[in-house]
Amino acid sequence: MCGIAGYVGDKDAQGVLLKSLSRMEYRGYDSAGIAVIEDRRMFVAKKKGKLKVLADELCPNQIKGTTGIGHSRWATHGVPSDANAHPHCDCKGKIAVVHNGIIENYLELKSSLKREGHKFISETDTEVIAHLIEKFYSGDITEAVRKAIKLLHGSYAIAVIHKDEQGKIVGARLDSPLIVGLGKGENFIASDVPAILDYTHKVIYLDNNDVVTITKDSVAIQNITGRIIHRKPSVIKWNISQAEKCGYKHFMLKEIFEQGDVVEKIIDERIRDGRVEFDELKIKESDFRRIKNITIVACGTAYHAGLTGKYVIEEHAKIPCTVDTSSEFRYRNPVVTKDTLVIIVSQSGETADSLAALREAKRRGCVVLAICNVLGSSIAREANGVIYTHAGPEIAVASTKAYTAQLAIFYLVTFYIARIRKTVSPSGLKALIREFKKCAALMNELLGEYRSGYNMLAAYAQEFKKYYHLKHNKSYFLYLARNVNYPNALEGALKLKEISYISAEGYPAGEMKHGPIALIDENPWVVCIAVKSKTYDKMLSNIQEIKARGGIMIVIVTEGDKEIMHHNVNYVIEIPSVEELFSPLLVVIPLQLLAYYVALEFGYDIDQPRNLAKSVTVE
Ligand code: F6R
Repeated sequence: MCGIAGYVGDKDAQGVLLKSLSRMEYRGYDSAGIAVIEDRRMFVAKKKGKLKVLADELCPNQIKGTTGIGHSRWATHGVPSDANAHPHCDCKGKIAVVHNGIIENYLELKSSLKREGHKFISETDTEVIAHLIEKFYSGDITEAVRKAIKLLHGSYAIAVIHKDEQGKIVGARLDSPLIVGLGKGENFIASDVPAILDYTHKVIYLDNNDVVTITKDSVAIQNITGRIIHRKPSVIKWNISQAEKCGYKHFMLKEIFEQGDVVEKIIDERIRDGRVEFDELKIKESDFRRIKNITIVACGTAYHAGLTGKYVIEEHAKIPCTVDTSSEFRYRNPVVTKDTLVIIVSQSGETADSLAALREAKRRGCVVLAICNVLGSSIAREANGVIYTHAGPEIAVASTKAYTAQLAIFYLVTFYIARIRKTVSPSGLKALIREFKKCAALMNELLGEYRSGYNMLAAYAQEFKKYYHLKHNKSYFLYLARNVNYPNALEGALKLKEISYISAEGYPAGEMKHGPIALIDENPWVVCIAVKSKTYDKMLSNIQEIKARGGIMIVIVTEGDKEIMHHNVNYVIEIPSVEELFSPLLVVIPLQLLAYYVALEFGYDIDQPRNLAKSVTVE
């Protein structure tokens, strides 16, 4: 979604802002802009389209100022256009504002500001902020921002400059992330860590209702009522190369290939002397002992990880578990109590619906555990306890390594609870941990094969494209699986539709006869997950039924499967042999690669698919 950058120091702000915005391109955006103060004059440049369009526009007339703010916009209110792009200014062009989030009462504010004579030139909600600040300005920009935000309903992270207060940026946040980057003789403001990593690794995570004023050598935080606040800086352990492609054509491919290492690292960090340890977990063992049920809440890919979590938790921790999408959980009347452990899963830790679900769960007295990737994110901070996935920055919009990292954490949480509640014997736990470790090593082996050898998934993608055109673009994908791999069917379908815009649905294979089989003719390609499992024979029956109706079949089986040869399927993909419970970690790899290569065949923008944003910070 939208990205905010701000710089004050001795460098040319324009260069720093363009670089910072480029580091946030992965979030998805449709326009970009900057405002820089030069010699007490405000220069604003903003363009619809990619950052390059803005950079080209600025190229002949480099702005020299050293204080500025920048923004990449993902349209919510008003179409993508030059006028709607940020920064937005007040009537006199003295104040510039960039904003992430949604101002829900902007129409009301806009009408009253118009009645007072303010002139608006965009369709955005953001422009009201600039005019409100103008209304309250009497020589102190921090003071004016504080007064203005008191009137805003909704969510915001903003950065503001005033041409008469060169060398100063004011930021404020409510339910949308904002950080301050601390440099030497320079400071930064940003919505995302990668935006500042080229310059500093020292950050302050701002909290809701914080108002920060930065100059090149000072950072002052106060709350909305003006009380001084102290926040401790943190040091970011990522380096910028983790946010670079390192020779891969796309971030998505790089991140797929990182997955074996990510899971092995999780194991190294969390399993000590054959026992699962979560150092940062603030939830007491007694809470895990007393809870009566678990509700997992998440969106998109994280929701699919949660669905797998349910299978694993119920299998070994023996606690009844439900899984809900955050947007449903937050608005229904969920039966969760102080005896419920609510697990919120979120890569970004900033997804608006998941954050709201977390607050709802806390309001109802539940113990809330967050599984997050981004350190210091809102969900991580507001939960009672957090387990970080430590997967490193995930840049591609389509989530891959965060998913497998979330799965890995679900295995570990299950082993942890099973030990505390004694639902698995010590020797049983040792065996489970052994198999889990084996699976992580096999992930690397499988990825190694895909990396170095003949890549059959790329060939299948080519075949699909030919078929798609042969069928006058009517071909599409179905993904079928049972049991612990059923969530992978959903995830495989989600990956494909996200980046290749081809229709794809996932179903539990047993549901076929209850409707979806009506879709089967010679048009769909059906991906069946039929690895060694207790439902293998059932999957073979599904395969027969689809074959009999003309569907083209890709079947994922366990290495050494001889049976599948008798079923005359079109393509077979093998994964190494592992206990069914852990197989999702391996099965998802060819699913992700298939989605990747199909999108590549069709020539789409894989890392930044249309209409999608990396972190959905608005509802
Ligand atoms: C899919 C994808 C999204 C996210 C979802 C939740 O590839 O990336 O479906 O999984 O938006 O995001 P987080 O995990 O950041 O809460």
